[in-house]
Amino acid sequence: MTQEQQEVLFQQKVDNEIKIEARDWMPDDYRKTLIRQISQHAHSEIVGMLPEGNWITRAPNLRRKLILIAKVQDEAGHGLYLYSSAETLGITREEMYNQLLSGKAKYSSIFNYPTLTWADIGAVGWLVDGAAIMNQVMLCRTSYGPYARAMVRICKEESFHQRQGYESLLALSKGSEEQKEMLQDAVNRWWWPSIMMFGPSDNESTNSEKSMLWKIKRQSNDDLRQRFVDATVDQARILGVTLPDPKLKWNEERGHYDFGEIDWTEFWNVVKGNGPCNKERAEARNKAWNEGAWVREAAMVHADKKKNKAA
Ligand SMILES: [Fe+2]
Ligand SMILES: [Fe+2]
Repeated sequence: MTQEQQEVLFQQKVDNEIKIEARDWMPDDYRKTLIRQISQHAHSEIVGMLPEGNWITRAPNLRRKLILIAKVQDEAGHGLYLYSSAETLGITREEMYNQLLSGKAKYSSIFNYPTLTWADIGAVGWLVDGAAIMNQVMLCRTSYGPYARAMVRICKEESFHQRQGYESLLALSKGSEEQKEMLQDAVNRWWWPSIMMFGPSDNESTNSEKSMLWKIKRQSNDDLRQRFVDATVDQARILGVTLPDPKLKWNEERGHYDFGEIDWTEFWNVVKGNGPCNKERAEARNKAWNEGAWVREAAMVHADKKKNKAA
């Protein structure tokens, strides 16, 4: 079969909703795009553990501590499924991890913002996991089989993350004046970075068109962002908080909320490594990797011993 015939066959499969599997022929760019996207997604899960792990020892009570530990542990699991899924495309976990540690690979910029108060942990669950779900539900139907299957379980867990965040903010919203202020302050800081999570506007997003054709993604950045804003406004009302955007207003004609201009300078600045915590996150991951060297070595020695015994 010629390359061209293979490409036609591939696109037919995609159009007919037949999943592409690891051993199937695929265009080089499809493979590259997926490796980049899935590994970035995996890195985001692993780095995303840091801002929340920061509060485990300071959770206000045992129940909140248990929930937070479970959530952070889920994120580690998400990272592992996703690394495994990317490995089926022919990259090793070590290569991916080295790209993260050297700063060559990107992860979601949202995790370069600090979690300053306990309300931030609720806001991360509500807004950050909430935005992530909008993005990830469509990925359960992505054209690459191993990625789609990993996403099904991830989405179920993300939905728990969003709910626990909202529930913890609901408790603050019924608390003292000080707690209400802390809640409003967290929402003020997390709102804009959360809606930036959907990435650049459609007319500036370079990878979007091919990804839609290949059904890696099925909805555009701007559509997903709009859905998130529409869903969040009512939830904010119940919490009694004001979303920090004076232009946020229901548009009867469009049937959607209008919202203000996103500060893309800030977005690109954080992507390029100049966010409030970029350096700290990279250092934390490198430290964990270096301090874990003995565990990796011991595991290898143990595996060798077992193999020799069996032989
Ligand atoms: Fe996750
Ligand atoms: Fe999550």
